Amino acid sequence: MTGGHPPDVGTGPLLAYLRSQAAYCASHGSPLYGVLGGFLADDVEAGGPTADLLAAWIGPQVRPETISDDVPLLRLFGGLHRLVLARQAPELALYFPSVGGTADPAGARPVLLAALTTHERVLRQTLERPPQTNEVGRSAPLLGGLAHVAGWTGGLPVRLFEIGTSGGLNLRADRLPVGPGQLIDSPLPAVVAPPYEVVERIGGDLFPVDAETTQGRLILTSYVWPDDVRRLERLRAALAVAVDVPAQLLRIGAADLVESIELRPGMVTVLWHSVMWQYLDAAERARTLAAVAALGAQASASARFAYVRFERGPDPGADRPWRHEVRLSSWPDGVVDLLIGSAPAHGVPVDWSTVA
Ligand SMILES: C[S@@+](CC[C@H](N)C(=O)[O-])C[C@H]1O[C@@H](n2cnc3c(N)ncnc32)[C@H](O)[C@@H]1O
Repeated sequence: MTGGHPPDVGTGPLLAYLRSQAAYCASHGSPLYGVLGGFLADDVEAGGPTADLLAAWIGPQVRPETISDDVPLLRLFGGLHRLVLARQAPELALYFPSVGGTADPAGARPVLLAALTTHERVLRQTLERPPQTNEVGRSAPLLGGLAHVAGWTGGLPVRLFEIGTSGGLNLRADRLPVGPGQLIDSPLPAVVAPPYEVVERIGGDLFPVDAETTQGRLILTSYVWPDDVRRLERLRAALAVAVDVPAQLLRIGAADLVESIELRPGMVTVLWHSVMWQYLDAAERARTLAAVAALGAQASASARFAYVRFERGPDPGADRPWRHEVRLSSWPDGVVDLLIGSAPAHGVPVDWSTVA
């Protein structure tokens, strides 16, 4: 740790970001991160250890958009949460509901700042990594899409491919507790679908996270807000399922994976994705869609192909929450881009009444 960052040199955009990110956390389910974020912003202003850690986002050369794209506060929170979950920051853990902490966050400032110094080396590494979650609430819209496919294909065995799969947890959607009153609490579409079996589960991601390892589980858990108990419960249930239901995870870009898929007779090959399309550049989107169209053109009554996606819908306008849409294409049925439902970003609950 160096001797402190001069408090008034180019900290303005970082401070504005930290305060607005903290306010966002406070109003979207994490009062804890709201309070801790305020302490960290104060510390940047005072030129304390937080300013040293976040020095890459301080200075006249740093654009405000870079800071809000990089979300350094969420990176830092992920690192701190990981230390807490790994039982390496016991004093900080007293404030984290994810490990049973109940202490009032108002008293957390000294242990928070001490943790930045004690764990500086590890935290610097975590600041290099963008936050990465795998939201299993999104298994509800994806599974609803699969129910439609099963209905149309008469329950053919399913080969499941996912791009932007993260930890591959939604590749186990058919084995997760999804449905009304379940942990992943959402209605399912009112379609008559015969039972079907998922015989292959293959996911690709530029940064796949192996949910079958302790390190992978820690990474996925650390980016869930520690006081968002419902999401943590859903995630833990899915991590347990992942141990029993294997999936193959590949380090591969979206377009490359879709271009490598071959259809098989007697089966329906399903490609799906959720909340990843926004990360593809125009060229990769075009390649991915061309590969989807090529698979559709090859599909036959025996070797079938379906494409399910849960992605952001149109801009709803000022201050209204974004809806995410469940859309479905199926070949050779001639179903193209059918809107079958919509849901909040985390996937639950799905409103299936939007069926077109
Ligand atoms: C917001 S996460 C969503 C993960 C998962 N689909 C879910 O719904 O929980 C976006 C994921 O897309 C991955 N990703 C970003 N660009 C990608 C690309 N070009 N090809 C494949 N995966 C990509 C990221 O690494 C990340 O795991």
